[in-house]
Amino acid sequence: MEKIQVMVADVSHERYVDEILKTISDAASVRGTGIAKRTHQYVAEKIRERKAVIALCGDRFAGFSYIETWSHKKYVTTSGLIVHPDFRNRGVAKRIKAMTFTLARRRWPNAQILSLTSGSAVMRMNTELGYFPVSFSDLTVDDAFWRGCEGCVNHDVLERTGRRYCICTAMLFDPAEHYPAKIPDEVIEEAERIDAELDAREAGAMNLG
Ligand SMILES: CC(C)(COP(=O)(O)OP(=O)(O)OC[C@H]1O[C@@H](n2cnc3c(N)ncnc32)[C@H](O)[C@@H]1OP(=O)(O)O)[C@@H](O)C(=O)NCCC(=O)NCCS
Repeated sequence: MEKIQVMVADVSHERYVDEILKTISDAASVRGTGIAKRTHQYVAEKIRERKAVIALCGDRFAGFSYIETWSHKKYVTTSGLIVHPDFRNRGVAKRIKAMTFTLARRRWPNAQILSLTSGSAVMRMNTELGYFPVSFSDLTVDDAFWRGCEGCVNHDVLERTGRRYCICTAMLFDPAEHYPAKIPDEVIEEAERIDAELDAREAGAMNLG
């Protein structure tokens, strides 16, 4: 079978937008779940801004996902992950997710990466990358973010609970948890003092010997 290439999309891929949107909405009706509805223009803009990743098999569309930023880039989401049914269970979603995640980390290294999902495949991939589950009430994201949920069949649940609960699982990757551990200066100073004492004692012992 021909190889599947995964890449950051560019303007030459705008011709796939209608097929991407159709594949997303077909998958949502098969699953009977909610989905954040996006327009042709919105997805094309993501491609132009180099915030989208596409998978192609030759010139056949195989998969897609894009990045959104929220609350003055405090939060980033990788959204709309879709793999065409002809190319599933071959690790394509995992490769796309790895690329959107890396791109988001490179472009917004201090942003928290957020995921709202009802798909167990996505939960698995998120967990592997270091996301952890959080409650909706922990998310201080702006109104524009929540407007993305308006096209979802479960939107009434979100409204009814004042955005505190819904069907999706919220998951967060917090970059602060992934920095090297921070050791207080006084601990380092004390450790250096102890090292110097031990070195001096060792040198003294050698002189005596
Ligand atoms: C979900 C989807 C993106 C997975 O794409 P894929 O290329 O087949 O996935 P991969 O082969 O890369 O598998 C990635 C991981 O998810 C798991 N997985 C894949 N499909 C799964 C499913 N239907 N249910 C549970 N886990 C699944 C795989 O076992 C793998 O995990 P592992 O590495 O721990 O074994 C694809 O089925 C799809 O587009 N579905 C419709 C849209 C959708 O549900 N999107 C997610 C919105 S929340």
